Amino acid sequence: MWAYSFVVPFVAGKGGLSSNALQAVSPFRPDAAVSDICSSETTELADIDWDSLGFAYVPTDYMYTMKCARGGIFSKGELQRFGNIELNPSAGVLNYGQGLFEGLKAYRKEDGNILLFRPEENALRMKIGAERMCMPSPTVEQFVEAVKATVLANKRWVPPPGKGSLYIRPLLIGTGAVLGVAPAPEYTFLIYVSPVGNYFKEGVAPINLIVEHELHRATPGGTGGVKTIGNYAAVLKAQSIAKAKGYSDVLYLDCVHKKYLEEVSSCNIFVVKDNVISTPAIKGTILPGITRKSVIDVARSQGFQVEERLVVVDELLDADEVFCTGTAVVVSPVGSITYKGKRVSYEEGGFGAVSQQLYTALTRLQMGLTEDKMNWTVGLN
Ligand code: COI
Repeated sequence: MWAYSFVVPFVAGKGGLSSNALQAVSPFRPDAAVSDICSSETTELADIDWDSLGFAYVPTDYMYTMKCARGGIFSKGELQRFGNIELNPSAGVLNYGQGLFEGLKAYRKEDGNILLFRPEENALRMKIGAERMCMPSPTVEQFVEAVKATVLANKRWVPPPGKGSLYIRPLLIGTGAVLGVAPAPEYTFLIYVSPVGNYFKEGVAPINLIVEHELHRATPGGTGGVKTIGNYAAVLKAQSIAKAKGYSDVLYLDCVHKKYLEEVSSCNIFVVKDNVISTPAIKGTILPGITRKSVIDVARSQGFQVEERLVVVDELLDADEVFCTGTAVVVSPVGSITYKGKRVSYEEGGFGAVSQQLYTALTRLQMGLTEDKMNWTVGLN
């Protein structure tokens, strides 16, 4: 347990943790900079069972918060002890769902260095989502510096190499009180972290999906293409029904024609046929996944033809392989898909050749095990 529990002022975008302006408010080390405290007190790994990490909430040491009035700009972010936050019952996020989230991961390398993967992409996606949700957003620089500060403050929770990653969850929520339907008068940007292992209980084994053709997660003109919290509430019903029947998750169809693939509750979908990789095009109802985009680039760099287009549900019937991508799920092979009572199975018992190749290439990059020719990783020390 750390020796102090007071707020640590941190001005994102003003030089990060190395800035002399960043002083920890600690009764024990009042003059210590955050960077000193982080480096001296987080070298010991947290005392948890690193071998049994799943994708579940584990409370850590610190969170980051930064506030902003409607029409204003974010400033004066700070690290503070991880814990509950206070919300007015009339907060915009509670009443009208005015909120966005992001997800990214930090990996620990063998040499102790910690790597982030494309954090500026999350920052940009949050900015675009904030515009759609009528919220102010942190700048890309503020976002990235805040992520770095939060990870460094919770360094002891970054799993050892090969045991998982530190999942980073930035939130942007309307915290000001509002009664009539309107943008909230105040916003909070918050980052918390949690060590994670595999997302699906299947681990790296193939998952079993069911295609949902009645309930939809997004509509044209709606918010399916931004990472708003309501998109995830919308999938809970279909997902619960599917899980109760033994499926891993749900694959959604477009709500107009009910025949084009959209995405899975928490990830994007790819279909492989004759070595051509296809994925639904981004057209407003599908989340523009950062792993999706990275896998497309990695696949193309390895010589694959990748098509972003309308993918008809019937294409699942004679696909060679199907796989999902996302920050949480990484690259997950699909073992079977059930559509209107008909079950189609793919590679028995493991990754298909294409998804295995892409999983290996992507994760070696993310973990710093291969040269980062794309310049996607950001080292923290
Ligand atoms: C992520 O992959 O980071 C996501 O946001 C999915 C989440 C709902 C677990």
